[in-house]
Amino acid sequence: MVNRHNHWTMAMLHAAAFLCLLVSVRGDLLHSAGFESLAHWDCWSPVHCELTTTAHSGHHAVKVTGRQENWQGPSQYVSVQPGHQYHVTGYVKLLNDNGHAQSVKMTLDYHFADDTEDYATAASVSNVHVRDGWVHLTGGFTAPSKALKQTRIYFEGPQPSVTFLVDDASVTQVGGQTSWRNVTDHVIEQMRKSNIHIHVTRSQDVEQADVQIHVVQKKKSFPFGTALNVHKYNDNVANGKYRDFIHNHFNWAVPGNALKWYAIESHQGQRNFQPALDMIHRLHSRGLKVRGHNLIWSVEKYVQGWVKQLTGDTLRHAVQHHIQETMNVTRGMLEHWDVNNENLHGHWFEERLHDNNYNIEVFRIAHNADPTMKLFLNEYNVVANGEKTNAYLAQAKQVKAANVGLYGIGVQCHFGEEQNPDPDTIKARLDTLAAAGLPIWVTELDVIAQDENKRADFLEHALRALYGHPAVEGILLWGFWDQAHWRGEKASLVKGDNLELTAAGRRFLDLVENQWMTDETHVLSQSRDTFTVRGFHGDYELHVIYKGHDLTNLKKTFTLGKENLIVKLTVDV
Ligand SMILES: *[C@@H]1O[C@H](CO)[C@@H](O)[C@H](O)[C@H]1NC(C)=O
Ligand SMILES: *[C@@H]1O[C@H](CO)[C@@H](O)[C@H](O)[C@H]1NC(C)=O
Repeated sequence: MVNRHNHWTMAMLHAAAFLCLLVSVRGDLLHSAGFESLAHWDCWSPVHCELTTTAHSGHHAVKVTGRQENWQGPSQYVSVQPGHQYHVTGYVKLLNDNGHAQSVKMTLDYHFADDTEDYATAASVSNVHVRDGWVHLTGGFTAPSKALKQTRIYFEGPQPSVTFLVDDASVTQVGGQTSWRNVTDHVIEQMRKSNIHIHVTRSQDVEQADVQIHVVQKKKSFPFGTALNVHKYNDNVANGKYRDFIHNHFNWAVPGNALKWYAIESHQGQRNFQPALDMIHRLHSRGLKVRGHNLIWSVEKYVQGWVKQLTGDTLRHAVQHHIQETMNVTRGMLEHWDVNNENLHGHWFEERLHDNNYNIEVFRIAHNADPTMKLFLNEYNVVANGEKTNAYLAQAKQVKAANVGLYGIGVQCHFGEEQNPDPDTIKARLDTLAAAGLPIWVTELDVIAQDENKRADFLEHALRALYGHPAVEGILLWGFWDQAHWRGEKASLVKGDNLELTAAGRRFLDLVENQWMTDETHVLSQSRDTFTVRGFHGDYELHVIYKGHDLTNLKKTFTLGKENLIVKLTVDV
């Protein structure tokens, strides 16, 4: 009995702690946003609002009855700042519709300091019927740049005789301190950094004011990589500037095409691994790690002609031989392999072989060829848009359960033309995929905007959402130079023969090499002899500067990983 009671209490405590975290990072401007109570909600009397147990989530929702006008529904005052942008969501479920399509909305009522009033629709869905069940409203608004007395947000829209339920509302500031940035910053702080505890012992004649400790990160551990063009890389184009940019700014790379089957063996039996091997050797000599992409590609138009002629056991044998040989030749050189590329978008091998389980078979061949190799799924339209997110989760679970060496989930992240990546949506999709319990790698990131400043913002939104998600272990761009990018200049970080930085390139380097790297100097008279630097994971140098001179004999080097470190120094001059 006692034990059981304790367990129950522990579970309650965990639930309570989790809830607190959710509330504190969510930054919602609404009170009782989950409608577990009606506190702060108002229903424009005589309209009646009551809690019901038919909920979208949690235990309750609100039920709205006795309406006389379309605009009547639950409302709440919200504290918004003129000129700021907000994101809104909510769920509505109709209980009757009189056989007519209804519309549902979330609307703002602004009451200005000069006693004028204005209304704005923040989110709306039309053509709603009872059969649609819970309808998700999502949208946003920018508060007018004019002094406000008060603002309320309310649910409205259906004809007066319609009774409806509302649940799970939310109003959060976009780009503000209380929005997604809090969540991603928190994850980055917790997941990408650890503590360096520094203890300095001074001999008596050494004054604190004369000692500075400089802690500087030289390399990052978190994988930031790029796809590259094997010929441009091997030919050392642009007077070496293409290679230099890769070597100087990335720690991982992936050949865009050079390891694909059609590139290795465009004609049956004439295999050529040399360009890929030359590239891999050179990347290794510069300290970069390399992904293998990909063993087979299920999308029909990428299956080379001679393979398309094969059937049955001949085809199975050709695939098996190709995988075994490719993994033999590259053994020990690659960190990952994408096994069966884009298998949610193409099924050429399954269809040709009339074998729905062939994907598992391909994984098994690769896993047997090298049981230590980290094998991946790799897919598009799973994060940049949600077309296949749920299907991908199901596939990841299925392949994981088959126990055939699946290590991680590759999410390509090719964002659409002029698509501004939405961090909340990216987080929601990554959360969905993370339910498979496998690491996620961003394998092919690119954003597209004609305007380079917009492109910089787009890239930052994507990078913050991805780097700021706990399941993401590495991020690779799908190229960076307009002259070697499948989407050209509008996706470029650098452009032209001289690889000049665009605004997007400057933003990338500022994030990856400045904001997400550590470089701190502490004067002991301020920090005291014992202090802590919270640093990004990677390789460090620590310098002791005494009266302006770097005491090189006291220099220390160390690698900071997930474990906190203690660094002890004795300054004795
Ligand atoms: C978001 O972060 C800021 C700055 O760190 C903090 O003051 C604020 O309380 C946070 N908001 C929420 C909702 O956690
Ligand atoms: C791959 O290597 C294994 C072990 O050395 C060998 O038995 C096998 O024949 C090789 N397969 C191919 C296709 O190269």
